[in-house]
Amino acid sequence: MDPQEPARSAPIDPASIPQRKLATGAQMPAVGLGTFGSDHVSPAQVAEAVKGAAAAGYRHFDCASVYGNEPEVGAALETVIAGGIPREELWVTSKLWNDKHAESDVIAQCRKSLADLRLNYLDLYLVHWPFPNFHPPGCDVTSRSADAKPYIHASYMKTWRKMEELVDMGLVRHIGTSNMTIPKLKLVLRDARVKPAVNEMELHPHFQQPELFKYVVDNGIQPVGYCPIGSPGRPERDRTPEDTAPTEDPVILEIAKRHVVSPAAVCIKWAVQRGQTPIPFSVHHYRENLECVTRDPLTDEEMRAIGGLDRNCRLIKGQVFLWKEGQTWEDLWDVNGEITPP
Ligand SMILES: NC(=O)c1ccc[n+]([C@@H]2O[C@H](COP(=O)([O-])OP(=O)(O)OC[C@H]3O[C@@H](n4cnc5c(N)ncnc54)[C@H](OP(=O)(O)O)[C@@H]3O)[C@@H](O)[C@H]2O)c1
Repeated sequence: MDPQEPARSAPIDPASIPQRKLATGAQMPAVGLGTFGSDHVSPAQVAEAVKGAAAAGYRHFDCASVYGNEPEVGAALETVIAGGIPREELWVTSKLWNDKHAESDVIAQCRKSLADLRLNYLDLYLVHWPFPNFHPPGCDVTSRSADAKPYIHASYMKTWRKMEELVDMGLVRHIGTSNMTIPKLKLVLRDARVKPAVNEMELHPHFQQPELFKYVVDNGIQPVGYCPIGSPGRPERDRTPEDTAPTEDPVILEIAKRHVVSPAAVCIKWAVQRGQTPIPFSVHHYRENLECVTRDPLTDEEMRAIGGLDRNCRLIKGQVFLWKEGQTWEDLWDVNGEITPP
C-alpha cells in the first residue's frame, strides 16, 4: 500500500478552510459542494458525493428544490449528522424555484425543502431567479413559458416579504438573492427589511463580473460563485459556440503546472483568494477541490494574471426566462445599467 494513502485520505480539517463572515456575524465556509447533477448525474450519485464530501471535510452544501435530489441529499445529510458532525457545523443552502414566487407558496416551499433535506432550519434560502416563470426541468433553451413575466419589483418584494417572514419564524437563518443585477439589487436593498446576506452569481476566470462583485461586497453581501470551474459538465442546452472554458486557458494551465494541481483547482484557489465562495459540483474531484484552498496560495502576480483573463463569457444565459419575442438573453441581465423595461 502506498504509505501516503492514509494521509491523503485523512479528512481535511474544516478549521483550515477559510470562512466568510456574513452581516449577521455568522461564518460560512468559503468553499461549498454544488449539488446540481446537470441532468446526467443521478440523485443517488449526488447523495454519495455529499456523504463523501462531508467525510473529506466539507461543511457547506448548495442545494435547490429544482435540482430534483433534495430527498436523497437530505438522507445523506441525516447520515452525516448521525455520524457525528453536529448540525451547527453544517451550512446548508436551498432555493425557492421560479414557479413558487406567489406569497401563498413561499413558506410551504421552504417547509418542503426542509422536510426533504431532513432539517429543521436552513442556513440560507435564496430566491433562485428574479423571474417568476415556469419551465419544465430539462427543457430546451428555446422553451418559453406561456405567461412569462419580466422582473417586476413590486412582485419580487411580495416574495421577499415572505422570505423575511421565514427568518422571523426561525426556519431560515439568512436569506439571499441569485442571478441578480445591480439595478435590481439597488431596489431590493432600498426596500428590504431583512437585507440579502448573499448573492449567488456565475463567477469564474472567464466571467468575473467585476462591477457586480464590487457592488455586492461594498454593500455587505457575500458573493457566492456558481460554475466556478466553467461548468464543463453543463447540459447541452446551456452551451453556445461562443462559450470558452477557463480550465483550457493557457494562463490557467501554466499556473496549474507551476503549483502541480489541476486547472480546476487553480480556478477554485483564485475564487477563494479573490473573496468569493465557490460551490464546485463534483462527484469525482471534491476532495481535491477543498484541499487546494488549504495550501500553496497563488501569488499576487498569479492573481493579477487570472484577473486579466475576464472575457465576459456568461455560460448560464437564462434564455428560457425571456418574456417576449425579439429579445436576446442580454435583456435578462440589464446590460445597459437599467432594468430592462417590460
Ligand atoms: N444559483 C444558480 O442559478 C445556479 C446556477 C448554476 C449552478 N449553481 C450551483 O453551482 C454548482 C456548481 O456549478 P456547476 O455544477 O454548473 O459547475 P462547476 O462546478 O463549474 O463544474 C462542475 C463540473 O466540473 C467537474 N469537476 C469538478 N472538479 C473538478 C476537478 N478538480 N477536475 C476536473 N473536473 C472537475 C465535475 O465533474 P466530476 O463530477 O466528474 O468531478 C463537473 O462536471 C451547481 O452544482 C449548483 O449547486 C447555481
